[in-house]
Amino acid sequence: MRRLLRGGRVVDPSQELDETADVLIEDGKIAQVGPNLSGADEVIDCGGLAVTPGLIDMHVHLREPGNAEEETIASGSAAAVAGGFTSVACMPNTEPAIDNEASAEFVFLQAQRAGKARVYPIGSITKERKGEELSEMAGLARAGAVAFSDDGETVRNPEVMRRGLLYARMFDKPVIAHCEDPDLAGTGVMNRGVVSMMLGLPGRSRESEEIIVHRDMTLAEITGSRLHVAHLSSAGSVEILRRGRERGLAVTGEVSPHHIVLTEEHVRSYDPNFRMRPPLRTEKDRKALIEGLRDGTIGVIASDHAPHARERKEVEFAFAPDGVIGMETVLPLAVTELIGKGILTLSQLVRLLSTTPAEILGIPGGSLRVGGPADVTVIDLDSAWKIEKSRFRSKSRNCPFDGWEVKGRAAWTIVGGEVVFSLE
Ligand code: DOR
Repeated sequence: MRRLLRGGRVVDPSQELDETADVLIEDGKIAQVGPNLSGADEVIDCGGLAVTPGLIDMHVHLREPGNAEEETIASGSAAAVAGGFTSVACMPNTEPAIDNEASAEFVFLQAQRAGKARVYPIGSITKERKGEELSEMAGLARAGAVAFSDDGETVRNPEVMRRGLLYARMFDKPVIAHCEDPDLAGTGVMNRGVVSMMLGLPGRSRESEEIIVHRDMTLAEITGSRLHVAHLSSAGSVEILRRGRERGLAVTGEVSPHHIVLTEEHVRSYDPNFRMRPPLRTEKDRKALIEGLRDGTIGVIASDHAPHARERKEVEFAFAPDGVIGMETVLPLAVTELIGKGILTLSQLVRLLSTTPAEILGIPGGSLRVGGPADVTVIDLDSAWKIEKSRFRSKSRNCPFDGWEVKGRAAWTIVGGEVVFSLE
């Protein structure tokens, strides 16, 4: 089967490519990229659309096993491809946790059954994510876990974290750090500052994040391991990461769309859909995160898609669980807020959403190189639409962007040469 993507703007930062061209797909691989290609069984007209390497969301929570009413690997993969993602990496804070070979294999099996996006498990650093004993890291790596993380919690004991980093290095996998010191963060439910004081809500300080970014970078330096800092939220963290990278450490960082478009001011509504960990911070932090993206300090945008059941999330702010869904809104928010406002070029955005996540995780994709897998996202950058959470593929509805007018969305999502999503 030969499929031709005709006449799109082909943007592939891995090859410094940004030009109008055709892309020919054969047997699930990229067969040719160039002008006036022919000989296909099927043609998709990509005139006026951007053709990019398949987008990769390296930070999602799919809730399976354990909380299938919130999300399953099948519903999560459907949401992923609708959002333009051809691959996602899912966090191990499931019930039970993904802390052994069999549980990682289960993720691959369910993803294969779903037949939409590629889903890669992230194994936990510690057994049951308790922060005490290392999990079966060798077995997890053998089963294909792409990284290790206790996301949702910081590994409180630095010696355990040091050993986790050391083991991860043996398997050449990155450790993805959730950076929030539990003692400093305490029982806070939003950013600590003037707004939390006025609202009478307990706050989580920025230092609770920054001190762990610092600690984990130091441990990564000692062990020579690769560290990826998840969901950065504060200006101080960006600066610490910037300095570490300048010193040549193997550290990378990620930011979620909600931290680049929202601030703690939104919490004044007491809407639990503005509650997540780390919390939304100030305008100064938001601007520093955007600057981090612009200057290359932050290499990845990831959704931190965190589905929660309605009956648990739609309660008083102080009692709601942390997290918001995001796979179906990353692309429009990034196109609207970052490209639309002239902050990033499309090529820079594709690097953040595809090239760099593929490099960090060491997974196929992230490029339209001939011979590579035909994971492709065709993006309509000009399509203006309104986000309606009732239409999401995700099983959950905890989205803070409902009703937002945005621009840009996936028109076609292609995984291994097969069309797994097209805009109706
Ligand atoms: O807000 C969050 N929700 N932050 C996390 O780190 C975990 C996530 C979840 O699993 O709900």
